[in-house]
Amino acid sequence: MSEHHHFWDGVIRKLWPSETEKFRDHLLRLDKDSRRMRFAHAVSDSFIEDYASRMNDMGAIVYAFIEGGEVRAVAELKKLGDTWGQEAEAAFSVENGYQEKGIGTELMGRVIRAARNRGVHHLFMSCLSENRKMQAIALKHEADLRFEYGEVIGEIVPIDSDYFSIMAEAMEDRVGYLLAVLDVSRARSKFKKLGATGTEGTTGSDKDAAVQKVPLAKGA
Ligand SMILES: CC(C)(COP(=O)(O)OP(=O)(O)OC[C@H]1O[C@@H](n2cnc3c(N)ncnc32)[C@H](O)[C@@H]1OP(=O)(O)O)[C@@H](O)C(=O)NCCC(=O)NCCS
Repeated sequence: MSEHHHFWDGVIRKLWPSETEKFRDHLLRLDKDSRRMRFAHAVSDSFIEDYASRMNDMGAIVYAFIEGGEVRAVAELKKLGDTWGQEAEAAFSVENGYQEKGIGTELMGRVIRAARNRGVHHLFMSCLSENRKMQAIALKHEADLRFEYGEVIGEIVPIDSDYFSIMAEAMEDRVGYLLAVLDVSRARSKFKKLGATGTEGTTGSDKDAAVQKVPLAKGA
């Protein structure tokens, strides 16, 4: 693994069902090539809007990398049936200016742990065979990749969950909840400032820089 990691100022936490719009805006900001890599074919804005609006219905767990109040990368963990079973699907997207900074690798660690904690044994990541970055981050997590009809299916076999793995996710969710509350209150005060002066307030990057000091759970 190269030394470029942890140069970013944001935080990684789960998104709440009320944050669908941030999820949608992130997907809409993906450029043409990233959209094709993410969805395995070219997708329009309306496709993305429809997909994002179903985030809550799918019962997906969505980890987000958030900087300055904006979602810049996500990892989605989706169950394949109505309930969590042995198999699940994962998908990743990192915006252009944020790629190759280690964010995808961090997000994959969270997804593997969340999958493990729900008893998932096989995690499928359907991605194009030309997607070397995706293969690189999957291999960093000791994934086995098998090729089928030109697509790469990354099959990860997470080890069984243990007490520490479950506690780590629970503790991180508590911190994530506080961060989400801070994001809401910051958005409110920004709104008030805009109403009062007609100019924008701070971007909040100072706050994000501060919360980055919160130690991330081991193995996350
Ligand atoms: C694929 C994606 C999720 C990876 O996220 P990321 O934050 O850019 O990944 P990271 O920075 O953690 O790691 C990327 C690794 O790929 C390596 N890499 C980059 N280009 C590469 C290439 N052509 N061949 C092999 N490895 C390559 C990098 O060196 C890095 O490894 P390192 O940390 O050991 O140096 C992101 O690029 C993305 O969202 N792409 C568009 C959408 C997509 O492809 N989604 C996946 C579909 S499920």
